[in-house]
Amino acid sequence: MPASNAPTSPVSPVQAYLEALHRELCRLDSGQVATYIPELAKALPASFGIAIATVDGQVYEVGDTRQAFTIQSVSKPMTYGLALQDRGAETVRRKVGVEPSGEAFNSISLEPGTGRPLNPMINAGAIAMASLVQGDTLGERLQRVLDTLSAYAGRPLSIDEAVFESERSTGHRNRAIGHLLRNCDIIETDPEPALELYFRQCSVLVTGRDLALMGATLANGGVNPLTQQRALAADCVGPVLSVMTTCGVYDFTGEWVWRVGLPAKSGVGGGVIAVLPGQLGIGIFSPPLDERGNSVRGVAACEAISRDLGLHFLQPPRPSASTVRARYTLASVRSKRRRPAAESRWLDAHGERARVFELQGDLRFTTLEPVLRELAQGDWRVALLDFKRVSRADPAATRLIAGLAASCVSHGRRLVLSRVRRGELLAGLDRELASLAASAVEFQPELDLGLEWCERLLLREQGATPAAAPPTAVDGLEGHLWCEGMTAAERQALRAPMQRLEFDPGDPVVHIGEPADALFFLLQGEVSVVLPLPQGGVRRLQTLSAGMGFGEAALIAGGQRGADVRADTPVVCLSLSAAAFAQIQDEEPRLAARLLLNLLKATTRTAQRLTAEVAALEG
Ligand code: DON
Repeated sequence: MPASNAPTSPVSPVQAYLEALHRELCRLDSGQVATYIPELAKALPASFGIAIATVDGQVYEVGDTRQAFTIQSVSKPMTYGLALQDRGAETVRRKVGVEPSGEAFNSISLEPGTGRPLNPMINAGAIAMASLVQGDTLGERLQRVLDTLSAYAGRPLSIDEAVFESERSTGHRNRAIGHLLRNCDIIETDPEPALELYFRQCSVLVTGRDLALMGATLANGGVNPLTQQRALAADCVGPVLSVMTTCGVYDFTGEWVWRVGLPAKSGVGGGVIAVLPGQLGIGIFSPPLDERGNSVRGVAACEAISRDLGLHFLQPPRPSASTVRARYTLASVRSKRRRPAAESRWLDAHGERARVFELQGDLRFTTLEPVLRELAQGDWRVALLDFKRVSRADPAATRLIAGLAASCVSHGRRLVLSRVRRGELLAGLDRELASLAASAVEFQPELDLGLEWCERLLLREQGATPAAAPPTAVDGLEGHLWCEGMTAAERQALRAPMQRLEFDPGDPVVHIGEPADALFFLLQGEVSVVLPLPQGGVRRLQTLSAGMGFGEAALIAGGQRGADVRADTPVVCLSLSAAAFAQIQDEEPRLAARLLLNLLKATTRTAQRLTAEVAALEG
């Protein structure tokens, strides 16, 4: 038995908020359950559930969020989306408008002259949309509607046959609307199948949780956040949310936008769905309706949630501040390639000619513009944009990046993009870049490699040839960084107990976990110090060239190797064992001290560089 003061798991403040709201709104007992469809009159007025689903798949639920009820008019935005996908915007716009009717859901609001229903959220528009769903047979069309609604909810949905039969046998007004639409040629064939489809789509059983996930699917650009299944083409999401905003709650829409400010849709089954684009979906279930056919508690809950959580779509967060995760130049942050002192000093002095921006989140005009503004100023030679944490780039952002590339070409500058995930993320970039020279943009798979590319560009262009690695005799130690200040005799004494080793490109030199019992003086070629990653592949910690060394921890800390070292090119190096060094310490203490001092100098320079990098990354 747990002790009485055992800690309980903490309750999320979001969950606690929703529970308090649910308790408070349970007291609201006005409204009547719908009775005009006889089956709906059986709904329990006390049922009440609130669910919120975020675009990254977190679902908060309180109350009767798993109780099934019929979706009714909440299905209308989804069928509108299906019609847009199936027939294209032009055909759909010929059959239905996008103007609020300011009238009840079952009003006969047809445009004078054309007979077009004013919008797809009123019954007339929704029945017209049902007639546009593609499929060879009515059965096929029904299945597509059911599959689509299921994709939004992220689970297979079914139809409440009793509610369907009940509405089919009593829906005389809707039947009249269907035939009126046939009369105006908005429906071009027998309207009965479209009516049957409409009655069935209204009878699909959902829960409050389903509605929240359907809302989150719309918020997430048409992709269900839990299943990652696409329910609606990305380019149809905006049109669907638009009509939900202007027409979603009929003659209450103006008031709704003023009070709640979220695209929404209500249904006479007691369901309400609301969407905060890019962020979340809300699903409410409470059957008693107000005189306009909207759930009383549904309206109250959405109003409270929007107010308390600051969700009104006309008070959006300022997006631009968080798009740049880090900004620096090569003067302060560099690649993992360790460079000879002369190159390193040159980059310290001139590195601000390479600007680096690590971006994050969604790129669109407002988030990308501050970066472009910064790049429009100053005298730089190369800019690197890192996309590792960019979740999406909309077409405007993609065009602006292509515009940046074009301006780089015409101003003799270079643009490097690192860690760009292809596919949906930047699908349009290639198309936008097609008209530019192939070299306008340099793509690099790693930020570190992008930084190294920029360093090479600057060093190559500095005028003088970059100072090469110190001239190290292949078999000697003269000019080696770790032998600075040693006499020829001292170098010879150091060389005597050393072992000469050669490696081919790709050969392992040191394995992680091995005893650290020797250090290595690199005489020729390059090696990389790398850490194997759990998901496969490696992370580069350093690349070293002739005149540098590695494995110095052997003399200082001992223990085990903390990383792998592999030859990148043909490599020649000299190894000095810890035992041989111990002997030098006994017999030639001045030489041992000189070597240790040189190691300490090199380590101090590395520590200084890392401290400067941390400061730049934090700044
Ligand atoms: O057309 C009807 O009567 C219903 N099946 C759907 C109406 C509806 O949900 C209206 N919404 N508030």
